[in-house]
Amino acid sequence: MRPVRSSVLCRLLPAPFSLALRSLVLVLLCITPRCQAVQAENVTVLEGGTAQISCRLQNYDGSIVVIQNPRRQTLFFNGTRALKDERFQMVLFTPQLVRITLTNVSVSDEGGYFCQLYTDSTHHQVATLSVSVPPETPTVEVKQDVAEGSEAELTCVSPRSKPAATLRWTRNGREIPGVVSQQDNGKTFSVSSTIRIPVERKDNGAALMCEALHPALSGQRRIRHYRLDVYFAPTVRIVPPTGILREGDSLSLTCSVTGNPLPRDIGWSKVNDTLPERAEISGPTLQISRLSQAHNGTYLCQAQNDFGRAADHYALLVYGEYAKKKKTTLFS
Ligand SMILES: *[C@@H]1O[C@H](CO)[C@@H](O)[C@H](O)[C@H]1NC(C)=O
Ligand SMILES: *[C@@H]1O[C@H](CO)[C@@H](O)[C@H](O)[C@H]1NC(C)=O
Ligand SMILES: *[C@@H]1O[C@H](CO)[C@@H](O)[C@H](O)[C@H]1NC(C)=O
Ligand SMILES: *[C@@H]1O[C@H](CO)[C@@H](O)[C@H](O)[C@H]1NC(C)=O
Ligand SMILES: *[C@@H]1O[C@H](CO)[C@@H](O)[C@H](O)[C@H]1NC(C)=O
Repeated sequence: MRPVRSSVLCRLLPAPFSLALRSLVLVLLCITPRCQAVQAENVTVLEGGTAQISCRLQNYDGSIVVIQNPRRQTLFFNGTRALKDERFQMVLFTPQLVRITLTNVSVSDEGGYFCQLYTDSTHHQVATLSVSVPPETPTVEVKQDVAEGSEAELTCVSPRSKPAATLRWTRNGREIPGVVSQQDNGKTFSVSSTIRIPVERKDNGAALMCEALHPALSGQRRIRHYRLDVYFAPTVRIVPPTGILREGDSLSLTCSVTGNPLPRDIGWSKVNDTLPERAEISGPTLQISRLSQAHNGTYLCQAQNDFGRAADHYALLVYGEYAKKKKTTLFS
């Protein structure tokens, strides 16, 4: 920087939590008849963070230094607090540098801060404070229950950010384009992205992701994971026993059921008959111990949910007891 005779160099310095600096404001400063160009930097601070506002003095002659907020209210009058806002603190006042800090920065603190040096005439320099608001993890809203064969409508919502966040839907790493809508809530934005995808039962449990992208996140990720819940009618299958069944054997039939929601009650019955007395049902399993030929018949397993019903049947044939038969043939 070139030497400056008598000037106020005012700039915002980044606080530890502030974002990267953006180089900025060139203001012409005329304290003496010689006008000097001085440089300041615009700064962007995260909401809730701390900003440092520094006024660099050169050839300071003991004049009154005034620091004003964007509404031109005087914050400090030559080192003495003027505005009752404890978030502003004077941290340094030397012939070279006047520095104040602003803690818990909010979007309403944005604007130009004035450093003024009262001399023969009044001169000031402005540094612009920008506040950025990174988005929280977005939420996912589902319009209604999604049944197989229909379309799922999912909306990813980022209610507050500055500048507006970008929402990105993906499935297995592939982007799904959404219909984006953006609302300006004064200083901050709410953004939503809606996708419509046709779903089948194989899509039940499929993993989707909605990510909010924002320059202030600097490496952090804001991802909402969402699993598709696709409703579908049940399927039912009886797993048959292997080999033939003879009198005295025991029968165990298991009914394998799918469906979303999974049917709670599995119904066992015998076609055109009542279930044998010895039949025992526990969950999806029907058991009959010591089979006899009277157990011959068709057994039915049924299940249902709100989206449909399904059934499977098993025809039981009980053969005569082999060993007994053999004995009978041999010894009678
Ligand atoms: C600094 O911020 C002000 C206000 O937003 C803008 O007009 C100016 O161009 C910025 N300067 C630089 C160098 O970015
Ligand atoms: C303003 O404050 C500075 C630093 O404390 C001091 O040196 C200077 O004399 C003050 N100026 C006036 C006019 O009070
Ligand atoms: C920071 O400011 C917000 C309002 O802008 C307030 O709700 C919050 O309590 C403040 N936090 C602290 C630590 O002062
Ligand atoms: C059940 O009874 C009906 C009418 O008597 C008959 O048509 C059907 O074949 C029977 N089903 C079985 C599995 O026995
Ligand atoms: C049961 O089925 C077996 C095998 O088909 C047959 O031999 C037997 O006569 C049947 N018994 C009855 C009571 O239907």
